[in-house]
Amino acid sequence: MCGIVGYVGSQSALDVVMAGLKRLEYRGYDSAGVAVLADGGLAGAKKAGKLVNLEKALVERPLLAGGTGIGHTRWATHGGPTDGNAHPHLDNAGRVAVVHNGIIENFACLRAELAERGHELVSETDTEVVAHLLAEEFSACADLAEAMRLVCRRLEGAFTLVAVHADEPDVVVGARRNSPLVVGVGEGEAFLASDVAAFIAHTRSAIELGQDQVVELRRDGVTVTGFDGGPGDARSYHVDWDVSAAEKGGYDYFMLKEIAEQPKAVADTLLGRIDPAGSLTLDEVRIPAAALREVEKVVVVACGTAFHAGLIAKYAIEHWTRVPCEVELASEFRYRDPILDARTLVIAISQSGETMDTLMALRHAREQGAKVLAVCNTNGSTIPRESDAVLYTHAGPEVAVASTKAFLTQLVACYLVALYLGQVRGTKWGDEIRAVVRDLADISGAVERVLETMEPVRELARSLADKNTVLFLGRHVGYPVALEGALKLKELAYMHAEGFAAGELKHGPIALIEQDVPVVVVVPSPRGRSVLHDKIVSNIQEIRARGARTIVIAEEGDEAVVPYADHLIRVPATPTLLQPLVATVPLQVFACELATARGNEVDQPRNLAKSVTVE
Ligand code: M6R
Repeated sequence: MCGIVGYVGSQSALDVVMAGLKRLEYRGYDSAGVAVLADGGLAGAKKAGKLVNLEKALVERPLLAGGTGIGHTRWATHGGPTDGNAHPHLDNAGRVAVVHNGIIENFACLRAELAERGHELVSETDTEVVAHLLAEEFSACADLAEAMRLVCRRLEGAFTLVAVHADEPDVVVGARRNSPLVVGVGEGEAFLASDVAAFIAHTRSAIELGQDQVVELRRDGVTVTGFDGGPGDARSYHVDWDVSAAEKGGYDYFMLKEIAEQPKAVADTLLGRIDPAGSLTLDEVRIPAAALREVEKVVVVACGTAFHAGLIAKYAIEHWTRVPCEVELASEFRYRDPILDARTLVIAISQSGETMDTLMALRHAREQGAKVLAVCNTNGSTIPRESDAVLYTHAGPEVAVASTKAFLTQLVACYLVALYLGQVRGTKWGDEIRAVVRDLADISGAVERVLETMEPVRELARSLADKNTVLFLGRHVGYPVALEGALKLKELAYMHAEGFAAGELKHGPIALIEQDVPVVVVVPSPRGRSVLHDKIVSNIQEIRARGARTIVIAEEGDEAVVPYADHLIRVPATPTLLQPLVATVPLQVFACELATARGNEVDQPRNLAKSVTVE
């Protein structure tokens, strides 16, 4: 949700922190702020709005240079996006500065206690109490890490905290509970951040922190302890991508770059997972084959775009394994008392690995005895750490708030899991698996071909910039594709966009069709399941008869749709189950171009943040 950076070393902390915040701005852009230790005291600046406002403020009133500093880019929870509510927050003496991601649930009573003891709190945030509590504890122990441990033991909720104290000028302290924080280790310097992207330009040597950990950074080393002062839970790892992956690389937006990276992301996600004989080798799925054979039900939990990947996974899992599969919005899951046991396999899909709703759903599932397999894009993040097993998607860092390459790779990973279940349970013959694997291997090239033919889609999007509504229809796996197309358009173009199961339209939503309303229809392959195809062709005729402007996505060679398509978008022929991998791509391009045409911020749409680390 928010982006946090901390630095101690011999470089200018302000420069390092500001550059780090730039890379984390996708996590929140309601306000930004920094604090550095210089000349025996703390100096800082904070501004509502995007990072550029803070940059301007720092040009007008430069800060003194020092080697220790922290910074924050905010997605507001408690208190509006004002200068006063921006982080860092200070104690009354201005000796402690703290930045925070998450929610401190018991802040109201802590605030009341502090007020009784004479503290004056000036913001509307939950964070400010931490600065005051740290100041109190530090005055007794003169040790910021110890003060942090003591304070954290009093906090309820989910939080990442990073703090500095003017009396310990070469120290940065961080803490995490249920919220992301990684350490970067350089030569004579160390970094703290919500995401490795913040320090990848300086070091690829990282440390992931376990739950309820406090970390103390000094120039010459990093010390990790539990909130109780006991031994730390931390794991060092090497970040396997470099700074170029976190840059726009000549594209106007990260989203455009990430759309273009999809052929590679898809191919990379297959890499090393198929042996020369064409069987699947998912050794990383540490759940033994015997346990997978016992599975009686699969439940997929996820949010947003990842949820749409789950909806598509259900078709593949049930078709290839004959195991019943439910797909549930993670935010609803644990509140309906789901029926789970040791024979349930829960698949938690998350790009970031930090989505709080998904994390809470998987914890609930594990408490009920279910096994959890994470499908995740972020190495070492909380969701894979807390799962029984993980299948990483190899999309590389996804920076744009709107998920694109993560979605395609989540689909590939889910197809692999479904096939693997079919392999170990014997519901799929080896040659059937090899045939699907061959089709999957062709997808990268097919996505490449889709990308080469997108100019008419961009033109069409521009021509619809003044519309208020776009509807999306699909059947079978085309239905979640329709939902995903609508979600992309909502979040980027701020238009009324809705996805429907095409067959459901006549049960109510068809009343929305009026003259010239654009309706995007995802048409399944005419081959094989032609009943599905015929039915959707009828649906297209029904809406066209009522004045809709039809935008039809259909595979090459499907001539039956031609008479009913006001605009026809061709995608390469694929087996029906795999069609979402190609049919989604034009919808991403469509939404991106419409957002641009409407003058919207493509990478940072209003009100949103990339990782949603609050429930
Ligand atoms: O990091 P996750 O995959 O868990 O995120 C889930 C959703 O928040 C995310 O997919 C969101 O819906 C995207 N902004 C959609 O483009």
